[in-house]
Amino acid sequence: MLNKIKEHLLLVEKFEANSIEQVEKFRIDYLGKKGILNDFFTAFKEVSNAEKKNFGQAVNELKNKAQEKVSNLKDVLENTRDTKATGLDLTMNAESMRLGSRHPLSIVKNEIVEIFARLGFTISEGPEIEDDWHNFSALNLPEEHPARDMQDTFFIQTNPDVLLRTHTSSVQVRFMENNPAPIRTLSPGRVFRNEAISARAHCIFHQIEGLYIDEHVSFADLKQTLLHFAQEFFGKETEIRLRPSYFPFTEPSAEVDISCNICKSKGCNICKYTGWVEILGCGMVDPNVLDNCGIDSKKYSGFAFGMGIERITMLKYQVKDLRLFFENDIRFLEQFTNA
Ligand code: PHE
Repeated sequence: MLNKIKEHLLLVEKFEANSIEQVEKFRIDYLGKKGILNDFFTAFKEVSNAEKKNFGQAVNELKNKAQEKVSNLKDVLENTRDTKATGLDLTMNAESMRLGSRHPLSIVKNEIVEIFARLGFTISEGPEIEDDWHNFSALNLPEEHPARDMQDTFFIQTNPDVLLRTHTSSVQVRFMENNPAPIRTLSPGRVFRNEAISARAHCIFHQIEGLYIDEHVSFADLKQTLLHFAQEFFGKETEIRLRPSYFPFTEPSAEVDISCNICKSKGCNICKYTGWVEILGCGMVDPNVLDNCGIDSKKYSGFAFGMGIERITMLKYQVKDLRLFFENDIRFLEQFTNA
């Protein structure tokens, strides 16, 4: 008798059906009132006591297997029928989600921050809406100073003491006011200037400025720091060139060019056939600025530099039009990966 049950177990396991009708017939054959299982249960009464345990377990197993088979086959067949009726394939894979990528300006900003972080620079941030003192006066730019014309400022008409910062040097003023020397800080952020929008200029752009103050900081330290940055960012073979310049908050001041990494200094339209491209402004912090911000200019000296993140990004990725950074066209943005 046990062998008979085992035979049926195999048959149940192997059973396949193509239609609900076949499953129903199978169900009646095994589980129906006059079905095979019922016969076994009837036979159970005649089994000797010694065999009852094994026999009972085997019959129960067969019953469970048969019930499982019926419900599994029904599930499968009913779902297939749904597909036919609705035209939906419920087994189809879901469409994969499109992953975003970091904005090129963020990628470049992070890269610059990492390079200076390795030199011990920390990040400082400040408000985009500034007052006259932090954006101008503390930086050696008194009210009637002609250098203010360099930066076409957005003022609030009714209160000229409220303005949108024109550079992140304002953050450095705040940092010096609130922290004792020595200082090593980097201020990335959005800045605003009233300029006509073109392929090379925008009224909103991003800067990253650095400030280093300690005893005996010299112009040589500035030059070496900037050379290190240029070679880390643009490649080991990069050279820098400093040209004398003027900023009210630094003395002496310089503008820094790097050797053109696009044509390898042979001359191209990016470097305007000079072999050099300008990347930033810098200088030794004017002692007046240190004193304005509560730092003893007799004891301390320092250097500062500032660069436009858009400009650096355009050079790095050879982007020809600055407006692309603000349009958020996905076809443009998805080309940049944070490698
Ligand atoms: N603040 C200057 C600008 O926005 C850049 C700069 C910073 C120049 C520090 C010199 C030193 O143009």
